[in-house]
Amino acid sequence: MAVKTNWYKEAVVYQIYPLSFMDSNNDGMGDIPGIISKLDYIRDLGATAIWFSPLYKSPWNDYGYDIADYREIHPAFGTMEDFDRLVEECHKRGLRVIMDAVFNHTSTEHEWFKAALADKDSPYRDYYIIREGKRNKEGELIPPTNWTSSFTGPAWERIEGTDEYYLHLFAPEQPDLNWENPKVREEMADILRFWLDKGVDGFRFDVFNMISKVYPLRDDKNPLHFQKGTPFYVDGPRMHEFLNELNRNALSLYDTYTVGESYIPDEEHAHRYIKEESGELDSIFDFEHLASDNIFGLKMIPKPFSLKQFKRGLIDPQLRYHGTGWNTLVLENHDQARSVSRFGINTKKYRYQAATFLAMITFLGWGTPFIYQGEEIGMTNTKFMSRDQLKDPVSHFVLGMAKDLHMPDRLAFKMMKGAFRDHARTPMQWDSSVNAGFNTGAQTWQCVNPDYRTINVEADLASGRSIYRFYQKLLALRKSEPALIYGNTIEYYPDDRQVISYSRSYEGKRFLIVGNFSGTRADFIMPGDFELDELHIRMTNQGRTDTEIEEIMQLKPYEALLLEETV
Ligand code: GLC
Repeated sequence: MAVKTNWYKEAVVYQIYPLSFMDSNNDGMGDIPGIISKLDYIRDLGATAIWFSPLYKSPWNDYGYDIADYREIHPAFGTMEDFDRLVEECHKRGLRVIMDAVFNHTSTEHEWFKAALADKDSPYRDYYIIREGKRNKEGELIPPTNWTSSFTGPAWERIEGTDEYYLHLFAPEQPDLNWENPKVREEMADILRFWLDKGVDGFRFDVFNMISKVYPLRDDKNPLHFQKGTPFYVDGPRMHEFLNELNRNALSLYDTYTVGESYIPDEEHAHRYIKEESGELDSIFDFEHLASDNIFGLKMIPKPFSLKQFKRGLIDPQLRYHGTGWNTLVLENHDQARSVSRFGINTKKYRYQAATFLAMITFLGWGTPFIYQGEEIGMTNTKFMSRDQLKDPVSHFVLGMAKDLHMPDRLAFKMMKGAFRDHARTPMQWDSSVNAGFNTGAQTWQCVNPDYRTINVEADLASGRSIYRFYQKLLALRKSEPALIYGNTIEYYPDDRQVISYSRSYEGKRFLIVGNFSGTRADFIMPGDFELDELHIRMTNQGRTDTEIEEIMQLKPYEALLLEETV
């Protein structure tokens, strides 16, 4: 066992979606040399680790979340030598490297899957979940169970020329692995060791809490379940055992950090995944607060923003798990719309205020901050004009589903336009030159957001209201104050419909975080356990001064404050 230094608790992670970050060779796609050229920018922001969305060989049906070879770099990104150099360059700058581990499924292009289909006696057949179809009353062949995929439609694909189906909880090109097979588990531990031996420091496990299924497989008879089958594959019976095994055989042998992307986990299981004594994961992503303006699971179906849900999702894990595990703090990733363009925010009017407000109320909480490329300059949603501009297969699946429900095309587009995953995947906006400085070539794999002429890194840094510099300051402050890292959280006014507020305290030091999550003014009454004359402002996004700390403070739209108690 390696000694665990818990470096991740003081870390700030920056997420890179490699296809869209920086294109050094003008082929329209981001690449590793491009990333290397921007490492100083990431370090200077205050990040101490980078999570790379999949860099592996893949046919890109789901842009890398369908892996064809776990030990190879996608040629569009570069070579293994490029990758080794990336690790070296990151480490030189004090940046740890976190890889994406997509272990629930492979690509249909993976050699294992090809071998499984080519020969019924192949040992690789048992790497996947393949079953005979059933006959319905009419004698027609139907899938083995009625489960639906997270990407809409049946979760089973028929194997051509046979009566058999394979399970895919995501796209048909993403066949689920059979974790019951010890060989699969050995392969996975071996893959982890392969990357750890290369100097990688940790992993983000993709949809990790779906790897254990309930056997024998059966129909989901609950008529209320829109996504059929979830009770039989979310937080399955062998989850903890599988994670323990990965730890024993790989993770615990190195000083690693792990974060698992969870799909609506049960509270008790969630706690067990991250409890230090469990030997499973260090932390999870639980997106409850990011489902505050959409119907989760089908995040493209919008609903009015609920601050109440946002608060519960952001704050409850801090209250629940403090002292026993570790938490993550997230506003964006490659699957989410841009944060300044959602949650009911009037982006045109309040982009700066909202970006800085969101950063303060989120990243001053308890847990490791995760910042998604472009978030630090307040990148916004793109106005997609047509289906052709949408590259994400999920956008097309969901629009297809709307069509099946006889929803007029334009209405479906209009309804979902704020939530497409494509919003996060437009090229990073570096400057105001053609293609936003992402490259100087003729094309980009995904369209550039036309607002790049005004919203880009260069313009942000030159502006008197730089969001990047605000992040810099915030992250430096967090780093310098143990209370903001280790302190426990106490929430104030959980039912307030505009204000979000909590304190962080540790070893005699206390901070109060206050923010107005609305486009109108809001009153904040100082909680009784704080004395006005003992408070001073450590950070503000709208220029409030110490003399303006009052018993009842009127907060401007998206005003956020960090107050420090000095006794
Ligand atoms: C995760 C990834 C997402 C991917 C899905 C299937 O949710 O973040 O991008 O499509 O898993 O692998």
